[in-house]
Amino acid sequence: MFKEKFHEGIISAKQFDRDDIEFILKKGSEMLKIKNSNVLEGKILATLFFEPSTRTRLSFESAMYRLGGNVIGFQTEDVSSVKKGESIADTIRTVENYADCIAMRNSLEGSAKLASRFAKIPIINAGSGSGEHPTQALLDLLTIKEECGKIDGLNIGIVGDLKYGRTVHSLSILLSNYDANLYFISPRDLSLRNRYKDYLIENQVKFKELVNYRNIIESLDVLYMTRIQKERFVDMEEYEKVKSSFIFTEDDLEKTKETFKLMHPLPRVTEIEPSVDKHKDKAVYFKQTGYGLAMRKALLAELLMD
Ligand code: CP
Repeated sequence: MFKEKFHEGIISAKQFDRDDIEFILKKGSEMLKIKNSNVLEGKILATLFFEPSTRTRLSFESAMYRLGGNVIGFQTEDVSSVKKGESIADTIRTVENYADCIAMRNSLEGSAKLASRFAKIPIINAGSGSGEHPTQALLDLLTIKEECGKIDGLNIGIVGDLKYGRTVHSLSILLSNYDANLYFISPRDLSLRNRYKDYLIENQVKFKELVNYRNIIESLDVLYMTRIQKERFVDMEEYEKVKSSFIFTEDDLEKTKETFKLMHPLPRVTEIEPSVDKHKDKAVYFKQTGYGLAMRKALLAELLMD
């Protein structure tokens, strides 16, 4: 059923209803216990990354190998024929002859949706400009579910670049399926765009917008820190003004609940002090990358298994 519903791939978090999320979280949880299998033997994943990545590309590739499949692809635009002027449409029409699924990252916001229009195989949106990053949001929910035991009823703060941060957009959309209290914390110029706020309002999500987390830190169950997305700024002076807006410290961590979890999609720049890393019961952002592998194994298995 999942395979049929998502036969065009995973383009947006909006494709997921609560049953879909619960299904894939269960599969992700099962994958935490399965290191290697051969369920995708004979299948090929193409990873087309027109923008840099460490976690998303490597976890998709590792997931494919750990399930018995193979991977082809490129890591930068420079080594593909896009450099010679080839369109996304022609690239997809070509690569679909070589693979069973395509994971694509591109700086254009609608790139994954565009690619899915030309593809006969599933397209996975591995990050589309400052739009969405749905598989990151699914692994974020797996992290919350595994670390907190539930999602409903939690107080969740989301901090940083809410305007350009694609992980935030997809996570907010997925969280609208749950009864959580959301706090969006950002500099005013980097607040969540109206299109996402309108979506949350339409879905009756309880949320507040703040410019600092320090007044609510004691009540939070989860704080999801994000990087200010330097690469999306046209004016570097504007970036300089906001780049150090939030720096989470050990003092902040001391004020949190016993069960509090600090998350981050990574990469981190300066927004969490390295001294926080050693508090592994609360600072779960590196553990989160492991949940990412499990979630991507679950997604690939459900999309591609015969
Ligand atoms: N979280 C995330 O998308 O990381 P990468 O940019 O390293 O893939």
